[in-house]
Amino acid sequence: MLQTTQMKLSNTKIALIASIGGLLFGFDTTVISGALSGIRTQFELSVHMEGWFVSSGLLGCIIGVLLTGIINDKVGRKKILVVAGLMFLLSAVGCAFATNFSLLVLFRLIGGVGVGMASVISPLYISELSPPAQRGRMISYYQLAITVGILLAYFSNAYINSLGNEVYSSSTARWLLQTENWRTMFFVMAIPSILFTVLIYRLPESPYWLALFQNQQIKVQGTAAVVSMKPAGDAGKSSSLFATKGVKLLLLIGSTLAILQQFSGINAIIYYGPVIFESAGISKDNSLNFQTFIGAVNLLFTFVAIKNVDSKGRKYLMQVGLIGMIIALILCGVIFHFNITNNYLLLSLILIYIACFALSVGPVTWILINEIFPSSIRSKAVSFCTLVLWIAVWIIGQFFPWLLRVAGAGPTFWVFAGFCIINLIFCKKMVKETRNKSLEEVEQMFIAPH
Ligand code: BGC
Repeated sequence: MLQTTQMKLSNTKIALIASIGGLLFGFDTTVISGALSGIRTQFELSVHMEGWFVSSGLLGCIIGVLLTGIINDKVGRKKILVVAGLMFLLSAVGCAFATNFSLLVLFRLIGGVGVGMASVISPLYISELSPPAQRGRMISYYQLAITVGILLAYFSNAYINSLGNEVYSSSTARWLLQTENWRTMFFVMAIPSILFTVLIYRLPESPYWLALFQNQQIKVQGTAAVVSMKPAGDAGKSSSLFATKGVKLLLLIGSTLAILQQFSGINAIIYYGPVIFESAGISKDNSLNFQTFIGAVNLLFTFVAIKNVDSKGRKYLMQVGLIGMIIALILCGVIFHFNITNNYLLLSLILIYIACFALSVGPVTWILINEIFPSSIRSKAVSFCTLVLWIAVWIIGQFFPWLLRVAGAGPTFWVFAGFCIINLIFCKKMVKETRNKSLEEVEQMFIAPH
């Protein structure tokens, strides 16, 4: 029987709602930067405990991605998004009221599981519901939401800090806004978490999941596509992930793109920006303001991708963005090397780098990971590449501070530039243009010749 998915909402609204998963991802991973110093003092954390606390969120992400890979095809996309929303909520409330350090770590871990789940399902779900000519734009909403989440966390932390200067008569207000204001920083995340969880209920299930795993024949409104497929043999089982040469190649492409996105140094700049600016002799206050500029430029330039990714194409944007990033990174290295790091020169180069990332490598990596795989193994393959991406995030978190210390800022920027050059060549040689193609056409294009 041919069903039409019940979409009372337009495709754009559906994509925007699913993207809130990205906002929670951005907020959750950033909020810690403002909360950390209060937590360090309160629980008298050693360097070792602090490291464990910071990486607990990341460990949660890895668990969340693995879990999603295992259960996704059985339970469907929508239920996992709801669970992710509840995890974020639990984490926000739990961190806010944690009575000891172990509980705090546990609730950070739970939030991380939510981030892991959302980072697989939000873009995957959007890719499966978007008409081909808008798919790039719609997955870019997810990237946009990540940048909004990052910026919101900067602002929310700064605002909560500023409330600490007021005089309060209530002891609860003094507790939550002055002595232990890190609790409020976490608690703020409860608001978008509730919004996300409630709105997800209004979304239809992915037509691809219904067709493949529930044997339903689905027509997606707003697209010409009728989705009707049967799981081919053991499709969807993780063993079939590495079964054919064609899929192995796609996994190599997807995971290499994921690694290269992270090895471009983006999170080193987003999260360690103040350390970089301070090492250039810029005052602490200025460093924090610069960080807000970075967040704003990251958000604004994602619109360039939204506007162009379906008309000019994925490869074109990657090329333009990567060339800009390479030039900016090489010059950053040069000015550190020759010690000419005046405030505005360094800031301008870093902003150029961020703008170029936001219009290319940021969104396009997520787009490609979510559209190149055949439907029957898509969710497992996307989970695999997303897992690789989170492991790369961890590697950068571990090695960047070390590289900065032993090699200095100049060579560190050059290392990142080197990885962007590899990405540029890799995209040119290995990635095919997918704009305006249906997921079935993309599948044919990548798989057929092998
Ligand atoms: C990356 C994140 C990064 C964010 C910055 C995303 O595409 O996956 O690691 O923090 O972009 O905007």
